[in-house]
Amino acid sequence: MVKMSTLSEAYKDHPVKQNLIVPLDFTSVKSVPESHAWARCYDDPKINPSDIDKSWSSISVPVIDLDDPNVVNLIFKACETWGMFQVTNHGISKQVLDQVESQAKNLFNLPFEQKMKVVRPPNGATGYGYPRITPFFNKLMWNEGFTIMGDSLNNNAKILWPNDFQDFCEVISEYQTRMKDLGNKLMDLLLKSLNIPEPILEGKDQDPCTALQLNSYPTCPDPTQTMGLAQHTDTFLFTILHQSGNTSGLQVLKDGLGWVSVDPHPGALVVNVGDLLHIISNARFPSAIHRAVVNNEKQRLSFAYFIGPPLDFEVSPFLDYPNCDGPYFRSLKVKEYVSIKSKYLDLALSIVKKSG
Ligand code: OGA
Ligand code: NI
Repeated sequence: MVKMSTLSEAYKDHPVKQNLIVPLDFTSVKSVPESHAWARCYDDPKINPSDIDKSWSSISVPVIDLDDPNVVNLIFKACETWGMFQVTNHGISKQVLDQVESQAKNLFNLPFEQKMKVVRPPNGATGYGYPRITPFFNKLMWNEGFTIMGDSLNNNAKILWPNDFQDFCEVISEYQTRMKDLGNKLMDLLLKSLNIPEPILEGKDQDPCTALQLNSYPTCPDPTQTMGLAQHTDTFLFTILHQSGNTSGLQVLKDGLGWVSVDPHPGALVVNVGDLLHIISNARFPSAIHRAVVNNEKQRLSFAYFIGPPLDFEVSPFLDYPNCDGPYFRSLKVKEYVSIKSKYLDLALSIVKKSG
């Protein structure tokens, strides 16, 4: 497991101000405060007004059965077209998913003061707080999250539940183990689909870089004014996301179609391409631009498991494919990319792009 300090190191040069970490006590508000009221087109300069309100589309990302004999081709097509798909027959039981949901609920339902005991430090990567992308937007999001990496699980759980931390730790560890196995399986299929021969999750003496993000989107008095999680791409190779409680919210930005809902498919998990796989695929797979919207009926929970190579792994475009016309990106270490991303967010990919 990656030492917490190692990934935090990549973030160290760009500390986040405390007021952009500490979430609103959402239970205390009856209407949307000015700080959280997004006039979407204006507050998010990157949103094109014509992309708004097309989430009615009945088209969405493919659902792929992992046991399908044609699975490699299906994954290639889905990643090439959407940078995202949903996967069934993934081997994670409903019982495991329900247990994580119940533990996450326990956590987010704790009194605000209690959650604040594990608030994410300004230059840290783990703990309770607003999304890490918060400083890049003018408005705050309708979201509280809890990030788990390495030793942080036990440390933070002991602070939250001094006499009763075992249940949380057991359930989350179990989930991490399952996610790691599924992540390896998906990694193999993704590399096969790109005809890449080498394993890239195995470093010489470092483990893959993984993190688990629990997201809570509280019920919102006016969802049309707010943003659950603003548009972004994920930094690492790919993400496995569970949308809990059959509650929609995830949307992906699709060329020519605008924002498309990715509604929970019974029993399926969402898989999306991140920046590092976009680089390795030499831009054949888009890094999925996605966001989460909220609703006024019920709290929505999601769990995102991010998978990357070891921090010292050198990422470079794989060029051995028909009609390849040269690398689109320079090679760089995972930790260098994490640092660029934490400083420049969605400009990061263009910064590592080869000119000319
Ligand atoms: C994320 C993310 C989407 C969701 O945590 O990076 O994109 O539906 N989450 O919560
Ligand atoms: Ni994401």
